[in-house]
Amino acid sequence: MKKKRKLKKGAFLLALVLILGIAGITVYFTYDLFLTDNSPQEQEKSALEKLEDQGIKPVSKENFVNEANTLLSKGYTPDEINQIYEYMSDKNILAILDAPYKDLKEFYKISNFEFSKLERYISYQENNNVSMQDAVTQVNLNLDEKFYETIETISDPDAVTVLVNKSHALPSDYVPSNLVSIPSYPNYQIREEAVTDFENLLAAAKLENVFIIPYSTYRSYDKQNKLYNNYLNRDPVEVVDTYSARPGHSEHQTGLALDVRSSTLSDNLTDEDYEWMLNNSYKYGFIIRYPKGHSEITGYQEEPWHLRYIGIEHATKVHELGITYDEYYDLYLTSH
Ligand code: DAL
Ligand code: ZN
Repeated sequence: MKKKRKLKKGAFLLALVLILGIAGITVYFTYDLFLTDNSPQEQEKSALEKLEDQGIKPVSKENFVNEANTLLSKGYTPDEINQIYEYMSDKNILAILDAPYKDLKEFYKISNFEFSKLERYISYQENNNVSMQDAVTQVNLNLDEKFYETIETISDPDAVTVLVNKSHALPSDYVPSNLVSIPSYPNYQIREEAVTDFENLLAAAKLENVFIIPYSTYRSYDKQNKLYNNYLNRDPVEVVDTYSARPGHSEHQTGLALDVRSSTLSDNLTDEDYEWMLNNSYKYGFIIRYPKGHSEITGYQEEPWHLRYIGIEHATKVHELGITYDEYYDLYLTSH
């Protein structure tokens, strides 16, 4: 009887252990299946933590984990990845993700850097005695090529800040829609936006005994074409190209450029008047577009008489920086 009881007790205990065991296992797996968070967000979080453990600073950007892992697999160090996300534009990051590893240390802080031009920058800097910043700007302006080799047609010819040069051409049929006569010189037309500031410039100059007269303002594509071809009858093309724009490449077609002269000269400024212009024209929104010592950038000889209207804010900055408008445009008015 005792033995039987003992047996019963044993079976009962065994059953209890079994039941508790099964229940435990069930609870464990149920918890794992339903209660632990295996959501994509949770997975992303732990992937981000893994990156952080390696020293990569998280960036709140869609797809960052994938991108950072791609960069790691290409051989970029965590530090390089941090710098890339700190300094590089989205456009550059996309290009970097698509290419083999490149050492970008020299370029992090160059705001107008474009990854697709990396090799051009490096060889330009090696062949010319310039800083890497200048190499970047100058290559962006296609100065590693011959003038007129690469030509982009301007898509926003009406912009007051439009860049017109040997690699940026106006459409041949472009005519500004708001040309107006200059009130004090009605035979000359410029864009409406520039008229008041130009009159203000003339008045301010006069107060300081500087007498300025416009003598060539808006020129159509056809007029520039005739002018350029006439010059070709006089000089070889390499020479003409240093003082006359080819049709489509002249700022005069925008209606925002004016050639001005001193009242005592037929087509130039006296040294004193030029000095005044250098020190004051920016206050009225005009820059000296082809200044002395910058021919390698502008592609033209010095032209003291050629004023270009870009508005007071930008003209003031160009004046303060002492750079050409080509460089200014690439550095401050272009997205890279
Ligand atoms: N002389 C300037 C460069 C022009 O032809 O527009
Ligand atoms: Zn001119």
